[in-house]
Amino acid sequence: MDDSKTRLNEIINIGIDISHSKDLDLLLERVLSASRDIVNAEAGSIYIREKDKLTFSYIQNELLQKKLPPGKKLIYSTYSIPINNNSIAGYVANTGETLNIPDVYNLSQEESYSLDKSYDEISDYRSRSMLTLPLETASGNIIGVLQLINARNEQGGIQSFSADDEPLSNNFANIAAGAIDRAKLTREIILRLIKVAEMRDPMETGAHVNRVAAYSVEIYEDWAGKRGLPQNEIEKNKDILRMGAMFHDVGKVAVSDTILKKPAKLDPDEFELMKQHTYKGAALFSEMFSEIDEMAFEIALDHHERWDGAGYPGHINPGTGKPLPGYETQTGMAKGKKAEEISLFGRVVAVADVYDALSSARAYKDPWDESKVLEVIKSGSGVQFDPEMVKAFLSCLDVIRNISKKYPD
Ligand code: C2E
Ligand code: SIN
Ligand code: SIN
Ligand code: FE
Ligand code: FE
Repeated sequence: MDDSKTRLNEIINIGIDISHSKDLDLLLERVLSASRDIVNAEAGSIYIREKDKLTFSYIQNELLQKKLPPGKKLIYSTYSIPINNNSIAGYVANTGETLNIPDVYNLSQEESYSLDKSYDEISDYRSRSMLTLPLETASGNIIGVLQLINARNEQGGIQSFSADDEPLSNNFANIAAGAIDRAKLTREIILRLIKVAEMRDPMETGAHVNRVAAYSVEIYEDWAGKRGLPQNEIEKNKDILRMGAMFHDVGKVAVSDTILKKPAKLDPDEFELMKQHTYKGAALFSEMFSEIDEMAFEIALDHHERWDGAGYPGHINPGTGKPLPGYETQTGMAKGKKAEEISLFGRVVAVADVYDALSSARAYKDPWDESKVLEVIKSGSGVQFDPEMVKAFLSCLDVIRNISKKYPD
């Protein structure tokens, strides 16, 4: 009795924690680790419904994680499966039933589904017990599937999920489904807003925006972990950074088509106009209603500053674009912000943005080979970029490459 009360309490607290996550990717990560905690599952994954398919969207595996050096993340591929009764996850999404299977390599012949071994093959793992739950919202929509793998007993041995695990996990899955639904909507609204702003620039897509934001989160997490910042502060900042960074170039809405789409190098006058996208973007968030506004403001304003002070727009009044008193140079421009005068998150996004811009096609350039891109980033350390951010970027490069596959152009 006491035990189930404690667990219920735990679920309520996790529910509250989850309702504080605004960003979709981070929410999925938290839902999965919280639900694994509740039933002591070694591994798990989340599938999200996209039209008539289930996309394998998130994976955790404690056993495989332990084999990695500290701070490293599991690399995995995303893939989609059809929603039908042929696979376990497909069956659960299709019927809304929960499946509690003691050994997925030993399924009864009567069942329509068989094990989709992709997960095990990708991760070189042996799944045994599996509790697969629909992520069903209050209005009855099944938005995805939560799969918990290999329940452990107190000695760490693999056992079946108990019948008690089902209602607890189902309650939790319902709470999670509501939160995921909301986060998905927020993500879609942001992407739609950005699409309106950047519709005229066919080279800068929602994919670019998602990549830069996701890379930024990885860079920040690595940097902050090495500095030993408190975990709750890191988690909170990741959440608002993921969204704030999506707006880094939103000020391009104020730049004319002829400049934006020019299939050649900009002349100096054109480049001056292009530079305005920093503070014109920031101005959209200058009211600072939310932490996301604050983050988006900082990033839009500072993402083209350089560590050596040679970036733009420099020490200006973001409302007017004019230099702040005492910061005019002889040409009437503002002095660039230098080193830690540049906001922390501006320094993070600067690296992520250049990596992605060089790796992608633009109206004015073809994508570069990675080796050439890395050369620019490395040689920019301490010149264009904060050296600590370059270090963080390089140490999570494998994760960043994996993200680029998740959001192709
Ligand atoms: P963007 O295309 O997203 O590029 C972001 C940043 O990546 C650039 O900031 C720059 O730091 C880096 N980058 C991009 N391409 C190159 C390159 O070929 N060589 C090097 N070394 N770095 C590169 P930057 O330069 O301040 O440009 C800001 C934005 O201005 C660009 O965003 C793009 O929209 C526009 N832009 C810059 N140069 C040109 C150009 O020659 N032609 C056109 N049409 N647009 C340009
Ligand atoms: C949000 O705050 O959730 C949306 C971003 C904005 O403030 O415009
Ligand atoms: C730092 O000094 O690098 C972190 C503090 C900040 O710039 O906001
Ligand atoms: Fe920019
Ligand atoms: Fe950009």
